[in-house]
Amino acid sequence: MTTPVPSLTMNDGRQIPQLGFGVWQVEPDTIVGTVLKAFEVGYRHLDTAAIYGNEEGVGRAIAESGLARDELFVTTKLWNSEHARERVVPAAEASLEKLGLDYVDLYLIHWPTPARDSYLDAWLGLEEVQQAGLARSIGVCNFQPDHLRLIVARATVVPAVNQIELHPTFTQKDLTAVNDELGLLTEAWSPLGLGEDLGNATISRLAAKHHRSPAQVIIRWHLQQGRILFPKSVTPSRIEENFDVFDFQLSDDDLKAIDGVDRGNRIGRDPDHVT
Ligand SMILES: NC(=O)c1ccc[n+]([C@@H]2O[C@H](COP(=O)([O-])OP(=O)(O)OC[C@H]3O[C@@H](n4cnc5c(N)ncnc54)[C@H](OP(=O)(O)O)[C@@H]3O)[C@@H](O)[C@H]2O)c1
Repeated sequence: MTTPVPSLTMNDGRQIPQLGFGVWQVEPDTIVGTVLKAFEVGYRHLDTAAIYGNEEGVGRAIAESGLARDELFVTTKLWNSEHARERVVPAAEASLEKLGLDYVDLYLIHWPTPARDSYLDAWLGLEEVQQAGLARSIGVCNFQPDHLRLIVARATVVPAVNQIELHPTFTQKDLTAVNDELGLLTEAWSPLGLGEDLGNATISRLAAKHHRSPAQVIIRWHLQQGRILFPKSVTPSRIEENFDVFDFQLSDDDLKAIDGVDRGNRIGRDPDHVT
């Protein structure tokens, strides 16, 4: 099957599909059917994490799908309790065992947990995961500029991505500028603002203008600005809707109007205070 999803090139030369499927809060009893539905629609990029408790179900869906491994892009994440350097390879192996895979395409530190002062150690562990062939690419989530600068100054590998909360009412322009400056791609988590941004008046106006849904307008805004995103849904019609975004374009004025919606509306946890 040819995919309509464009890919971006990471700083290690590897490709990442720009639109994927997130599985946070997809329960163990629905994960297999939900991921199989996403595959049927055409998604090939999955975003999970050890802490989501559904890696086994993701792995079962991958096995049942019959898709070739090299058609898929699978991301998982190191949990905060495993930040000691010697714990990282075993943690990655445990995730791979659950996923039924020999490697993940992308392995991420889930939170910097600055109060533990351990993220550089964790990052050196991720470099070992990559050297051992357990992850093709490695990156971080929720890193603030000072965390990124410390890694870039002290480690060998520059993270390929920084996965951060980013949606129309919370655009994190200063942080994405640092990602750009250091050569990391930006991945947007909660790209729809967990659904909260769908009712925004500007988004509704643009949805009416383009005869599209609010979610489709927000997804185009991310794609056209060069970000990676993986909206989550357990609703079959929404899984389809969120992928049906490759036959219309927002104008530069539309993009600017959505940028103007920002009001510093952080919905998730503040990375400086996650321990
Ligand atoms: N690294 C991190 O710290 C971090 C943190 C949070 C999330 N993430 C990743 O980012 C992914 C996506 O973020 P998220 O799950 O927090 O939020 P999201 O994708 O912004 O929003 C998901 C919510 O929006 C609803 N929804 C989805 N499509 C819709 C549509 N077309 N119309 C109306 N409602 C729609 C879903 O409802 P239904 O499911 O009921 O359809 C769900 O309640 C996660 O699954 C996870 O992979 C990473």
